[in-house]
Amino acid sequence: MADRLYIFDTTLRDGEQVPGCQLNTVEKIEVAQALELLGVDVIEAGFPVSSPGDFQSVIEISKAVSMPTICALTRAVEKDIEVAADALRYAKRGRIHTGIGVSAEHIRYKFNSTPEEIIERAIKAVKYAKRFVEDVEFYAEDAGRADNEYLARVVEAVIAAGATVVNIPDTTGYCLPSEYGAKIKYLFENVSGIQNAIIATHCHNDLGMATANSIAGVMNGARQVECTINGIGERAGNTSLEEVVMILKCHKELDIETNINTQRIIKSSRLVSNLMNMPIQPNKAIVGRNAFAHSSGIHQDGVLKNRDSYEIMNPVDVGLDNNAIVLTARSGRAALKNRFEQMGIVLENGDLDSVYEKFLKLADTNKNIQDEDLLKLTGDITDAR
Ligand code: KIV
Ligand code: ZN
Repeated sequence: MADRLYIFDTTLRDGEQVPGCQLNTVEKIEVAQALELLGVDVIEAGFPVSSPGDFQSVIEISKAVSMPTICALTRAVEKDIEVAADALRYAKRGRIHTGIGVSAEHIRYKFNSTPEEIIERAIKAVKYAKRFVEDVEFYAEDAGRADNEYLARVVEAVIAAGATVVNIPDTTGYCLPSEYGAKIKYLFENVSGIQNAIIATHCHNDLGMATANSIAGVMNGARQVECTINGIGERAGNTSLEEVVMILKCHKELDIETNINTQRIIKSSRLVSNLMNMPIQPNKAIVGRNAFAHSSGIHQDGVLKNRDSYEIMNPVDVGLDNNAIVLTARSGRAALKNRFEQMGIVLENGDLDSVYEKFLKLADTNKNIQDEDLLKLTGDITDAR
C-alpha cells in the first residue's frame, strides 16, 4: 500500500499574514470550507494571540469545519498557548503548533539566549501545550540554517516531551533540495524516538526552491507537507499545495499519496486568488492561465495528434474542462484547422492555405485572436458554399 502524506494547509495563517491578503472571518470560513472539500488533513486557522480577529476566526472555523484537524499557532510562550487552546475549544480535533527559533542567528539575535536555554523553553512549551490538547506540533524555526547536530537534540527533546508532529521549517528559503533532504535524513538517522512523531516540511520560496525542498524532505521520510494554495505566503511565499499534490500524482513511482481531491484544485485556487486579491502569474505551475495552454505550432501539432506528446497531466484532473490551444503567429495549420472544426467549419487544403496566410498577417499584429476574427477570414469561402 502507498504511504500516506498529510497535507497541512497554512493559507489562513502563513498566507493570510501577507500584506493585502487579510480576510474577514466570513471569508476565512469560506476558504476553510473549500479546503475541507479539497481534502486537506490539517488547516492552520490562525495565530489566536496575535489579534482578537484571529482569535475569533479560529473559533468560527473550528465550528464550521469538521473533517480536518484545526491547528492554531503560538510562540513558546504560556499565554499564547492558553489563548490558542481557548480558541480551539470547538474543534473536533484541535492541534497546538508551538515552537521557537533554533538557528544560531535566531538564538543569538532574536532571543539573546543560549542553545541549552532554547531546548529548555522548547520542552516547557510542548509540555504546557499537552495540558490542553493531545496533538501538539513543534516548529523548530529556521531549522534550514540550523546546525544538524543541535537540531537533532531539539527534535529528540520535544518528541520525548510529547510532540506528535515536528516541523522542520526552511524559514528563510535558503536550503538547496539536496541539503534539505539530507537534513531530514540526518534526523531520521540520529534522533532516537523519531518514529513516535510525524516529521513535517515547511519551506519558503525565497530562491524558488520551496516545492523542490518539500519533495526532497518527503523522499527522505517527512510525511507532512506544510503549504498554501497558489504558494502564497511571507515574502516569495510558501510551498504551493497544488504543486506537491500533482508531483505525487504524476510520479507514481514514489508510491506516496494524499487525500486531496485534485479536481477541486482550480476552484480552490481561484477562490483564494479572488478573496485575497492575489493574481496568479499566468505561467504558475498547475493553476496559471497558461499551465495547460499550447501556443507554438510544433507543440499544437503534437498535442492534436496525441496529448501525451506534450502533456504530463490531464487538465481534467485539476478541475479544468480541457487544455487550450492558443492561436498565435507561431501556430501552424493543424491548430487553425482544428479551431475551425470546433466552430463547425471544415477547411479543405486550398482553402486552409489561403485562410492560414490571412491568419498569419492578423496574428502578427493581434495578440488575442477571437473566434469572430477567424470567421471574418473565411468570408469568401463560406459565402461561396
Ligand atoms: O516559516 C516558519 O518558520 C513558520 C513557523 C512559524 C512555522 O512559519
Ligand atoms: Zn512559514
